[in-house]
Amino acid sequence: MIPFSNGWEFAPQWTEAFARGEGPAEAVRLPHTVKELPLHQVDEKSYQMISGYRKRFTLPEGKRFFLQLDGAAHIATVYVNGKELGTHPTGYTAFRVEFTDAAVPGENLVAVKLDSTENPAVPPFGFVIDYLTYGGLYRPVWLEAKGENMISDVFVQTPDLHTAQVAVTLDQKAAKDDTVIVRILDKDGKALAETAGSAARELRISVPDAQPWDLEHPNLYTCEVSLRDEDVKRVPFGFRTVKFKADGCYLNGKKTYLRGLNRHQSYPYVGYAASDSLQVEDARMLKEELGCTAVRTSHYPQSQAFIDACDRLGLLVFTEFPGWQHIGDESWKLQAIQNVKEMVLQYRNHPSIVLWGVRINESLDDDEFYIRTNAAAHALDPSRPTSGVRYLQKSSLLEDVYAFNDFSHTGDNPGALPKAEVTPDMSKAFLISENNGHMFPTKSFDNWARRQEHALRHARVHNDALADGQHAGCFSWCMFDYPTHKDFGSGDRICYHGVMDAFRNPKLAASFYASQQDETPVLEIGSSMDIGDYPASVIGDVWLFTNADSVKLYKNDQFVAEFSDTPFKNLPHGPMPMQAETFLSGWGDRVTEWRFDAIRNGQVVKSVIRAANSELKLEVIPSSTTLTEGDTYDMAAVRIRIVDKWGHTAPFVQLPLLFEVSGAAKLVGPAVITAEGGMGGTYIRTAGEAGKAGLTIRCPGLKTLQIAFDVIK
Ligand code: GAL
Repeated sequence: MIPFSNGWEFAPQWTEAFARGEGPAEAVRLPHTVKELPLHQVDEKSYQMISGYRKRFTLPEGKRFFLQLDGAAHIATVYVNGKELGTHPTGYTAFRVEFTDAAVPGENLVAVKLDSTENPAVPPFGFVIDYLTYGGLYRPVWLEAKGENMISDVFVQTPDLHTAQVAVTLDQKAAKDDTVIVRILDKDGKALAETAGSAARELRISVPDAQPWDLEHPNLYTCEVSLRDEDVKRVPFGFRTVKFKADGCYLNGKKTYLRGLNRHQSYPYVGYAASDSLQVEDARMLKEELGCTAVRTSHYPQSQAFIDACDRLGLLVFTEFPGWQHIGDESWKLQAIQNVKEMVLQYRNHPSIVLWGVRINESLDDDEFYIRTNAAAHALDPSRPTSGVRYLQKSSLLEDVYAFNDFSHTGDNPGALPKAEVTPDMSKAFLISENNGHMFPTKSFDNWARRQEHALRHARVHNDALADGQHAGCFSWCMFDYPTHKDFGSGDRICYHGVMDAFRNPKLAASFYASQQDETPVLEIGSSMDIGDYPASVIGDVWLFTNADSVKLYKNDQFVAEFSDTPFKNLPHGPMPMQAETFLSGWGDRVTEWRFDAIRNGQVVKSVIRAANSELKLEVIPSSTTLTEGDTYDMAAVRIRIVDKWGHTAPFVQLPLLFEVSGAAKLVGPAVITAEGGMGGTYIRTAGEAGKAGLTIRCPGLKTLQIAFDVIK
């Protein structure tokens, strides 16, 4: 496919003249948002419009021509040279149109009429929704030139860890012979096995040397299908099996707990329109920084780049078709069923995907409708189980796995309901698809007690979900804070439900997730040890979030105590409590320096110091300092923290952060923001040229920081 994301023009108002290539328009590159937005108080009306995109181009060599739009939010009608080619009424799946008959020699013009209003005729619209849906051609667009005979689809299943079962669909205009050659290639492109046969039936190939795809070793292979010398199609896949049994998820026959978070695909300022590199970065954070084994793509299929990254990283995915609580009329339902089909067809080769969500998130029972959504998914992919998210107990279970939003935890009761209380069918698998979220919204600038309780609530739910050995997994709400409609959120139209803030800066609750993995040593303390932040100056229990064997506490370098016990017996690494009052000094005492040493196998693997100090500095984490100006622009996200001398975020420092970009990049979003909870962020994007770029970050009173970027072509 030929990248087609550069050289577009945009107009916020669609007109017939615009479609003909007349009238003013702004030069844009994709991904594009119809409206750049503020961080707080986003007005959902501001991006709802019927806008236009157009692009002039000449045809490559070929006999048949296609355009593929990966994500057009939300109703897109495509015209080439004035000929209407079709309308795609959902913003969350890719779609293709053939424009062979409309193509002309010389210059061609494609125009896309894009409706980003909340049109109640199609999912997810028709009622309220707790997130924003944005607008724009926000994922890549591709051009494809083909001969008369082509391979339109390849579907690879792995019934066992050494067999690929390949279904090939041909689209031939001028040939009868349907013989294809199928090769399985390793990561270096070496063919491990080959077979040939008619595309009319599934081809089985045995690959004795195949290495399985799993969480630790996400081995990927390529299935290459050739149709004579006329067409070739390559799809990545992995050898893995997945089964959900009554007691859990079995990946390659091994019981595998899904410890996950829900992810929206929104970013500050640009809404959905972030670069592929930032989608990949979210997947990396989930796996490497948050120790997750799984993610739920709430509440719609997410980008190809994100799912590809989950494949490469070994992160299991529960994806679902678009919707939120509301089920519309028959034509709405037909579109929803079409969305199921598009989701499955687009993503069924991805080893990371283990569940298809085929119920509208948190909708009521509708057997007639859900019989059809289940059948649609099963028909196109017999290898994967279906599920569907409900807040209802004992609702009608047509799927293979009962997924339940367990919001029962209120702080002083069990973290999760027993399986038997929720599902009507104990013989099928069961999981928690959401918890916490609105039950305990927590801002990065809330007080210590609240942020610690936020982290503990996440720990309690996961601990109790693991207790009975009957939960296949638990996905919490959610990865990061997100902008939402006026009906939800904290009044500034933000749901502060994330374990990270909108810029993906970790809140304390993130350290609970981080501490469940073993690769990187983690130690976070649930208090600054300052009595002044607590009612009546009583700190109470301070919790240590760590994956160490034990934590040693030193007061002014004198050993005080060692902690290793945790009441969270089911977690890989339960938080450990410490009664702060036992060790505290009173007012007027010498200023205390607390040191916490995390010990693993007798060695100190991480130290945390809590002490009074007034030195503050900026600390930045760029997602990457090398950006690629390639098929389109690239972006870097820069996470910014104001930290004390010991490297700890200073959560109550609300200072301005000022940004200036020079060289081969541009700033995305405002040039001045306020740090919230001592944290903030910004984005830069490449501007069409290779070269050096610089980002200067200023904060009054603190040392200015500069980040150097290389933009390569
Ligand atoms: C659920 C819903 C999510 C989000 C969450 C907040 O009911 O599925 O989209 O709104 O609540 O806790």
